[in-house]
Amino acid sequence: MLILGIESSCDETAAAVVEDGVHIRSSVVSSQVSTHAIYGGVVPELASRMHLEVIGPVVDQALFQAGIGLNDIDGVAATQGPGLIGALLVGFSYAKALAWARHLPLAGVNHLEAHICSLQLLDCPPQFPFICLVVSGGHTNIYYVNEPGAFTLMGQTRDDAAGEAFDKVAKMMGLSYPGGPAIEALAKKGDPKKIKFPRSMLGKDNFDFSFSGLKSAVARHLHENSGMNDDQSAHVAAGFQLAVIDVLSAKLIAAARKKNCVCIGIAGGVSANRTFVENLAQRAERHRINVFSPPLSLCGDNAAMVAARGWEMIRDNQICRLDGDVYSRVKF
Ligand code: KG4
Ligand code: ZN
Repeated sequence: MLILGIESSCDETAAAVVEDGVHIRSSVVSSQVSTHAIYGGVVPELASRMHLEVIGPVVDQALFQAGIGLNDIDGVAATQGPGLIGALLVGFSYAKALAWARHLPLAGVNHLEAHICSLQLLDCPPQFPFICLVVSGGHTNIYYVNEPGAFTLMGQTRDDAAGEAFDKVAKMMGLSYPGGPAIEALAKKGDPKKIKFPRSMLGKDNFDFSFSGLKSAVARHLHENSGMNDDQSAHVAAGFQLAVIDVLSAKLIAAARKKNCVCIGIAGGVSANRTFVENLAQRAERHRINVFSPPLSLCGDNAAMVAARGWEMIRDNQICRLDGDVYSRVKF
């Protein structure tokens, strides 16, 4: 079964064709990052307008690269939420129109569940049940994934998302947007043990996170040490990054042990951070737990993961009505 996936929840317009939920036939991502970079963050109105300009060509390109036409598609899947309403509306309305015109089933995909499903596109995916962290600019959620499509939220951030903390700290340090890759690159030149930043919520017996205290601690450090040289900045980046990684890794391993899982998956933009993946994998190995993370092309927002989740939904007859609407937040 061939599913056309469409993603437009934030600042990437993406389309992909996935076969039977696991084989990527094509995956096209048009990023707006350079447009938003000068503002230091995503400007929602600009994002919607740019989605509108490129959605048609991006879908055409995905079909072309897959070597198929619209007649070959068996279903359409589009991100329904959470995300920016104006941005979501572009991809979701496009998908609805296609589904209506071609009499195809439509899946309204939850963006966070799609990130989890990016792991099933791996050659060697995690075994069920597994623990999965969705860690991006908007979310830091730990799920227990018992079987395909069964996602139980175990914990989440109480304030900033981990990616948001990377972006804000990068901004304070005068680094480029998005902040994650910039901090990771700078941190490689620093000593992560030189400056010890707080590890919030680590002692707590739950799976929630908090990153705003860490962000304030970095701000305080920068304020008290103005005029730092390059080496000192690198130590700040490395110290901050390790504080985030320590908390994420500890909570993930604790969640896996509690649920007797031998697999941990990480997905979303921050899973592109190789220092995090390696640190987590080393720590997990001591508990005989394996770590799974997507290739870089599937860490950030993409439509292959949307098609993968949509395939499960269409198979399970979870079809979205054509008067279904987009949503900005998920209520748990
Ligand atoms: O999943 P994503 O592309 O979009 C959202 O749904 O938010 O995630 C974007 C986030 C940004 O906050 C960005 O700074 C972060 O992922 N990110 C990283 C890295 N690459 C991207 N954070 C840490 N290290 C990275 N290498
Ligand atoms: Zn995302």
